[in-house]
Amino acid sequence: MTLRVRRHLVSSLLALTVTTACVRVPPPPINVTTAVENPATTIHPEIWPRADWPYPVDAAVEARIDAIIARMTLEEKIGQVIQADIASVTPEDAKRYHLGSILNGGNSAPDNDEFAPPEKWLALADAFYDASVDTSGGRTAVPIIWGTDAVHGHSNIVGATIFPHNVGLGAMHDSDLVQRIAEATALELRSTGMEWTFAPTITVPQDGRWGRAYEGYSQDPVLVASYVEKFIEGLQGKPGDEPILSGPHVLASTKHFLADGGTDQGRDQGDAKISETELRDIHGTPYVSAINAGVQTIMASFSSWNGAKITGHKGLLTDVLKERMRFGGFIVSDWNAHGQVLGCTNASCPQAINAGLDMYMAPDTWKPLYDSLLAQAKNGTVPMDRLEDAVANILRVKIRAGLFEAGRPSSRPYSGRFQLLGSADHRALAREAVRKSLVLMKNNNRVLPLNPKSHILVAGDGADDIGRASGGWTLTWQGTGIGNDKFPGATSILKGIEEAVTGANGTVHHAPDGSFVQQPDAAIVIFGETPYAEFQGDLKTLQLKSELKGPLATMRKLQAQGIPVVAVFLTGRPLWTNEELNASDAFVAAWLPGSEGGGVADVLFRDKDGKIAREFEGKLSFTWPMTANAKGPRLFELGYGLTSDSASNMGMLPEDSGVVSQESSAGTFFDKGLPTASWSLLVSDGQSDRTRITTTPVEAIGGRVQVKAVDHLTQEGARQFTSSGSGPTLIELVTHAPIDISRETNGDVLLLVTMRYEQLSSAPIKLSMRCGEGCGGQIAPAALSRLEVGKWQTVGVPIKCFANAGADVSKLDAPFQISTAGSIDFSLSRVALGTVADTILGCE
Ligand code: BGC
Ligand code: BGC
Repeated sequence: MTLRVRRHLVSSLLALTVTTACVRVPPPPINVTTAVENPATTIHPEIWPRADWPYPVDAAVEARIDAIIARMTLEEKIGQVIQADIASVTPEDAKRYHLGSILNGGNSAPDNDEFAPPEKWLALADAFYDASVDTSGGRTAVPIIWGTDAVHGHSNIVGATIFPHNVGLGAMHDSDLVQRIAEATALELRSTGMEWTFAPTITVPQDGRWGRAYEGYSQDPVLVASYVEKFIEGLQGKPGDEPILSGPHVLASTKHFLADGGTDQGRDQGDAKISETELRDIHGTPYVSAINAGVQTIMASFSSWNGAKITGHKGLLTDVLKERMRFGGFIVSDWNAHGQVLGCTNASCPQAINAGLDMYMAPDTWKPLYDSLLAQAKNGTVPMDRLEDAVANILRVKIRAGLFEAGRPSSRPYSGRFQLLGSADHRALAREAVRKSLVLMKNNNRVLPLNPKSHILVAGDGADDIGRASGGWTLTWQGTGIGNDKFPGATSILKGIEEAVTGANGTVHHAPDGSFVQQPDAAIVIFGETPYAEFQGDLKTLQLKSELKGPLATMRKLQAQGIPVVAVFLTGRPLWTNEELNASDAFVAAWLPGSEGGGVADVLFRDKDGKIAREFEGKLSFTWPMTANAKGPRLFELGYGLTSDSASNMGMLPEDSGVVSQESSAGTFFDKGLPTASWSLLVSDGQSDRTRITTTPVEAIGGRVQVKAVDHLTQEGARQFTSSGSGPTLIELVTHAPIDISRETNGDVLLLVTMRYEQLSSAPIKLSMRCGEGCGGQIAPAALSRLEVGKWQTVGVPIKCFANAGADVSKLDAPFQISTAGSIDFSLSRVALGTVADTILGCE
C-alpha cells in the first residue's frame, strides 16, 4: 500500500470524526522527525487547533484520481507540481513539460503588455488550456489552472474595479460587505478566464514597518478570522457537491502561511522570532477559519520561523496544516521561495516537496527545477509516494473545481463578459467600502462634514491620482507611475469632491501647492504614501518619507490664514502623523481606497440640504503610533474612530518623532549626474589606473576619454563621456562597502540607467556587475548598443541577468559597469535599482 493510499485512510478517518462530531481520534504523537537541533523550530502539532475541513472523502473522486495517476508518466507527474510565470513560459512549453499551473506575477502580462485588453488575457488562457489538454502522442489531458494576484479586485486588468486594500477593509468591520467584494472579484476574474486568485491575504501584521502591512485586514487575529470565511465563501461559494467553477466562482488561496506578518522588525521575508503559542494564536488563528471554509489552496510564506524557512518546514506544512488541521487542498509556494530553504537553490529543492509542499511556484526557473525534480524522483530523493500525494492533492482541487468538465476558458459561464469589469454594481460596492473604511481621527469644532455649497480648495499631491490611491499590486507589481488614463471609468478623489460640490452649486479650486486667488471656505489636503509592494515598502521607522512631507507645509500655511484644514491621509498603514494632526482641524485616514474615490466625498460633505448624508463608520483595525518608533507608545487604540457628532476637541500633540531619521538612498547609486553617498564614479580608458570623477570637465588618465557636465532635468544634472577614437573604456560606480541585493534580484528588480546617446558606439556596449576581484557577470544586450540617438531614456535590465552571468549579487562592489572596445559618446544622469523603465532589455 502506498503512502498516498494510506493518507487517504487517515483522512477518511479524520473526516469521519468531523461528520460524527463527537468521536475524537487521539492526537498524533509528538512529532520527532522535525525535532532537529534547534528546539525553537520544533512544532508540537497536538497543541494546535483542529479545523473542520468541509469536504468528506469521496470514494468516486479518489478512484478517479487513482486512475489519472495510473496513466500519468513520471514526467507528467513532475510537471503537474510546477507552476511557471507567463513571462517565462509559452503554451508549447507548458504542453511539453506538462505543467500543472501558470501564474501572472505582478509584472507579467500577455505580450509583456501590462495594459493588455481583457480579450488578450482570455485568449492566452485558452491557449494554455488547449496545450494542457492536448492528448497527442498519448499525453494525459490535465487542464492547467491559472493563478493571479486579484488581491483588491481583479487588479491586474485595465478597467477592473479596484477595491480598497485590505487595511481599509479591516477598518469597516463589516464581514458581509467583504463577502460581496469577494463575489464581485470572482465574477470579474471569470470574465477573463482565470480560475484561481492568490487571495485573501490573511496575514496578521504586527509591525507597521512591514511593506506589506496594507495587505492585512488587522493586527487582531480575531478580526482577521471573522473575515476569512466570508471572503472565501464569496470567492469559492459554499463548500458542497457543486463544482466550484459551475457557479460564479474561483479558487481561493490564503497566504502566506505562516507568520509573514510576524517577522522581526517587520522585515519582508524575514524571521518571526516568536514562541510556538504566539505563532499559533496570532498567526494561526485565521487559518482555522480558512480551512473551515474549505479554502482550496494555501500559499506557504517566504518567511522563516526562528530561522527555519516555512517553505521547507515539515512540522508546519504537513504535521500542522495537513494532519492536525486536516487541510484537504494543496499547498503552493511563493515566488521562488523554495530557493531560500536551507540547502536549496531556485533550480533544485527536493526539501520543499518532502516537507509537504504540493506545487512549486517557479516563475522563471521551472525548467531547471523540472529537470532536478525528475532526477530526484528517479533516484528516490523525492519518494514516489510523496510525489503522487502532491499530484493527487492538485488533481483533487481540479476535480472539485470541475475543471475537467469546464471546457476552454472562453466557453465557460461569465467568460468574455467584459462588461463585468468595473460594472456599475461593482463600482457601487467599492464606493460603499471606501465610505465605510474612512476613519475620522480628529474633528475639532465639528469641521466635518463640510457644507458643499461653498468654495473648497483641494490641495496636496494625492488628490487626482488614482494609481496612488490604489497602491501596490495595481496593474503592475509596485503600482508606481500609472496615469489616470489607465483607469477608465474610475473616479479620483478630486473628481468625487467636484461632483459633490458642484452638484450643490458650490465651487472647487484644485491646486496641489495650496495656492489660491479667492479665499476658500475650507481646504481639503490629500497627502500620504506613494505605491509600493513587498520589501520596497519596508521602513526603518514609522515616518512618512521626507519627499512626501510637502503637504504639511501647505496645511500649516492654510491654517495660519484661518482656513479650516481637512487632512485626508492615503496610507498603507498607521504612520507617525502628529505634525499633520496638529496642522489640521480634521484628519481622516483614507487608507488605499482604489478606483472609487467618490466614496471619500460621500462622507466629507453634507447633502445639498445641509443634512449629514453619511456618517463616518470606520474604526481602527491597527493601533496608531504616538511616535515614529514602531515599538513606542500609542496615540490611538484598536477600535478608535470618531463620528461627526463627537464633541471633544483634540489638543496639540508633541512633535518629537522619537527616532533618528533613518532614510537612506540605498538603491540609488548615481543621481542628477553625481554619485550618491558612499559611491564613486570612476573612468578608465585602457590604462590600469582609473580616474575618479569629482569636478568636471576632466579627462581620464590616458587622455582619450573626456567627461563634462551637461544638463538633464536640472542644470548639470548629467555627465557626458566622449572618447576620441576607439579603445577600451570602462565607466563604473564603486563602493568600499559591498552591497547585497539578492532580495531585489529575486523580486525581478531592474538595474535602471537613465542615459542618452550622443552618438552610437563603434563596438558593442556591455554592462557588468562586479563582486570583488575576479568575480562578476557581464552581459551585452544587443538593443543597448542601438538605442535611439539624442533621446533621454531609462533603460532597465533585470538584475538576475548579471547573476545568471556569474555575479554574486550578495557582495557587489560595483553594481554598474559600462564598457566598450569602441568609441563612446553618451550622457548619464541616473543609475538605480527599480521597476519602472522606458525600455526593458533582455539578458543576452
Ligand atoms: C508574493 C505573493 C504573490 C506572488 C505571485 C510573491 O512575491 O509574495 O503574495 O502571490 O508573488 O505574484
Ligand atoms: C513579480 C511579482 C512577485 C515578485 C517577487 C515580481 O517580479 O512580478 O509577482 O511577487 O517579483 O518578489
